[in-house]
Amino acid sequence: MRKNIVAGNWKMNKNLQEGVAFAKDLEAALAGKALKCDVIIGTPFIHLASVASSTKLGVAAQNCADKASGAYTGEVSADMVASTGAKYVILGHSERRTYYGETDAILKEKVLLALANGLSPIFCIGETKDEREKNVHFDVVKKQTVDALFELSAEDFSKIVIAYEPVWAIGTGLTATSAQAQEMHAYIRQTIADKYGKEVADNTSILYGGSANGGNAKELFACPDIDGGLIGGASLDVEKFIPVIEGF
Ligand code: PGA
Repeated sequence: MRKNIVAGNWKMNKNLQEGVAFAKDLEAALAGKALKCDVIIGTPFIHLASVASSTKLGVAAQNCADKASGAYTGEVSADMVASTGAKYVILGHSERRTYYGETDAILKEKVLLALANGLSPIFCIGETKDEREKNVHFDVVKKQTVDALFELSAEDFSKIVIAYEPVWAIGTGLTATSAQAQEMHAYIRQTIADKYGKEVADNTSILYGGSANGGNAKELFACPDIDGGLIGGASLDVEKFIPVIEGF
């Protein structure tokens, strides 16, 4: 069966000392709780090794290079990410698509390199406000999924976690309603079933992201096709993150 997952995405926040202290505090606060989900924290590159070696929390990078190695100044490869002990990498976040020009073709390469290095991609898809208003949101999300992921074998696809993040909901305080999120998650699962079959689709974790917090997590996570969250703002404080984790 698919896993329930709550993953934090710190984005470009917290220096190394703050990040390591946060991870230790979070682990201590979760100790002894009967968790109903896996907990992952998505840190900047420089935190990965320290957080992975000082806690048992799942650790995710927020990006990796679209090249395996070589003369790409400033880039960090999937092999390097894996060598830190991180097991996940967030790919295709809308901020990377928008600010750093990441296309579906680039993301396809990143996904392949992540998988080749034993990392599970947390692959982000989602429509803009304009696209939803034009009623093309299902098409947009389908295209992002198909173009970057649907050449994978079923075995490789089974290592992917999907994060549906409507761009209009990210960092805006404007959460999708649980009905809007459930409708899209069911559509994504059906799209996966059409390509890889019902079993693979049923085993794929599909997370919701976009202003999810302790106040709305419970209702979102109660939806049949919502298997957790990718959490930005509310993952930056232990006291705000725990109620999201406890949304399960
Ligand atoms: P938010 O960010 O929770 O702050 O809206 C979510 C994300 O960008 O992953």
